[in-house]
Amino acid sequence: MSGLAVSVKGVSKRFRLYHERNQSLKASLVRGRRSRYEELWALRDVTLEVREGTTLGLIGRNGSGKSTLLKTMARILRPDTGRIVVDGRLSALLELGAGFHPELSGRENIFLNGSILGLGRKELKAKFDDIVAFAEVEPFIDTPVKDYSSGMYVRLGFSVAINVDPAVLLVDEVLAVGDEQFQRKCREKFADLQAEGRTVVIVSHDLGAVRDVCHEAALLEDGRLEQTGPVGEVIDHYLGRVHHDRLDDGSLGARWGTGEGGIERIEVLEFGGGPAARLRTGDPVVFRLHFDTTEPIERPVFTLTVHTAGGVHVTAPNTRDAGLVPDEVKGRGHIDLRVERLLLVPGTYDLGASLTDYTGAYQYDVRHRAFRFEVVAGSPAERHGVMSLGGRWEGLPLER
Ligand SMILES: Nc1ncnc2c1ncn2[C@@H]1O[C@H](COP(=O)(O)OP(=O)(O)O)[C@@H](O)[C@H]1O
Ligand SMILES: [Mg+2]
Repeated sequence: MSGLAVSVKGVSKRFRLYHERNQSLKASLVRGRRSRYEELWALRDVTLEVREGTTLGLIGRNGSGKSTLLKTMARILRPDTGRIVVDGRLSALLELGAGFHPELSGRENIFLNGSILGLGRKELKAKFDDIVAFAEVEPFIDTPVKDYSSGMYVRLGFSVAINVDPAVLLVDEVLAVGDEQFQRKCREKFADLQAEGRTVVIVSHDLGAVRDVCHEAALLEDGRLEQTGPVGEVIDHYLGRVHHDRLDDGSLGARWGTGEGGIERIEVLEFGGGPAARLRTGDPVVFRLHFDTTEPIERPVFTLTVHTAGGVHVTAPNTRDAGLVPDEVKGRGHIDLRVERLLLVPGTYDLGASLTDYTGAYQYDVRHRAFRFEVVAGSPAERHGVMSLGGRWEGLPLER
């Protein structure tokens, strides 16, 4: 298979979920003499080729099968149908601390992991210092890893994975755990690996990072491969779908409430009223909450929530704190939050919304992270953290 680093052909993977005896029966339940289980196809007939030297991003919703696909590539899981061929040494960072023995020190784990990956002791000794330096764990190298912080775990795991000369590197989400500085270092390392012609497959929630780092992307949807191609095209396709998902199908986030009234839709609009196809940092934007009530709701409070795709709660502006308290609302309508300058840095974000009574205790409808959107680079050109403060530097003798 010249030119192909990974070839996935017709791969399906089934999980069986076993139930306790007393649990109620579901329609899909298969009933045996001894066991009852539900079958779940995490991958369905996936065929995918990763060419040597490319960096491929695997994207798709939670539960779409991304991690399962990586695990089958890494031979941690055996597919039920199909086959996978990997050309060359494969190293993988799939779960936080996977492959580490908690009682052993960092040093011992490096040797343990390295030998599992097929490196000789001499080879490992030669790489040892690089591994420790990249992971920034020198002072703790003889401490059992069970006492490491999650950041140290990720750094050490990643450092081992990239320093063992893999032809193919698989990385699942875990990098998001590292701090900003380490993530930057990882991005630089990815660039080195790409320059050396290594093949990388990464799973990430951060579509901005996928766009930056990957050449190609593959979109999984409910275990099926929905699309592959140049990274920009696949991400645009994915975002297009997410945008068009009706909020009330509930698949993107949890929803709860008493039901007298609801937030039916959230729209992201330009100031002129048209849909904002693409948001840039610094753009003006209108967030429009469409509500529908079956009964009059007195002194309602509308809240918009913004989370990063990684789950950081960014902000939650509400009408009450803004001094806007209508006596009541009823029927259908909408309310707008006009934002002169959107100060989110490039990245992927989730919007949610709620309709509550004045105290917030009585919740008519709460929609958690129901709508995903992306912000691309604009002005200010900041890109780290979550948001810009929108400030202006002064004090240097600047030319005008
Ligand atoms: N070990 C397992 N046992 C049973 N079900 C699993 C297991 N691992 C994953 N699943 C299920 O398979 C589906 C795909 O999961 P996963 O590959 O982790 O998705 P993703 O990484 O895209 O979020 C999900 O429905 C998940 O609940
Ligand atoms: Mg996963």
